[in-house]
Amino acid sequence: MINWKEEYRIGIKLIDEQHKKLFELANKAFDLLKDDFYIDKYDDIIMILKELKNYAIYHFKSEEDYMESIKYRKILSHKVEHDDFIQKIEEVDIDKIDENQDKYILDLLEFIVNWIDKHILGTDKLITADL
Ligand SMILES: [Fe+2]
Repeated sequence: MINWKEEYRIGIKLIDEQHKKLFELANKAFDLLKDDFYIDKYDDIIMILKELKNYAIYHFKSEEDYMESIKYRKILSHKVEHDDFIQKIEEVDIDKIDENQDKYILDLLEFIVNWIDKHILGTDKLITADL
């Protein structure tokens, strides 16, 4: 899994803290998935995945509010990236994931962290690049 790293820092405390939390949630789900001694871990993984989705929605709103507050010019294309991500996550029927689907959960987590990694480095960093 990917952890939050210094390179992700965009310099807005609220946004950086929220990014850390997204990685924490993804890693929490990943650690549970890898834990062979944890009984009934799937219910907990599904709970964390739901929390991650809801937190992403909440975080995107904070980021968009911030962009609006500074009259950021690229807010629309940025928002499209957020909406696309949420749409992809909404298409996943988390409740249908059962215990035979380790690979499915792993692929989903990898998709999520890779997307966040690319989005922070490529798109979020631009918010403060011209300030
Ligand atoms: Fe963003």
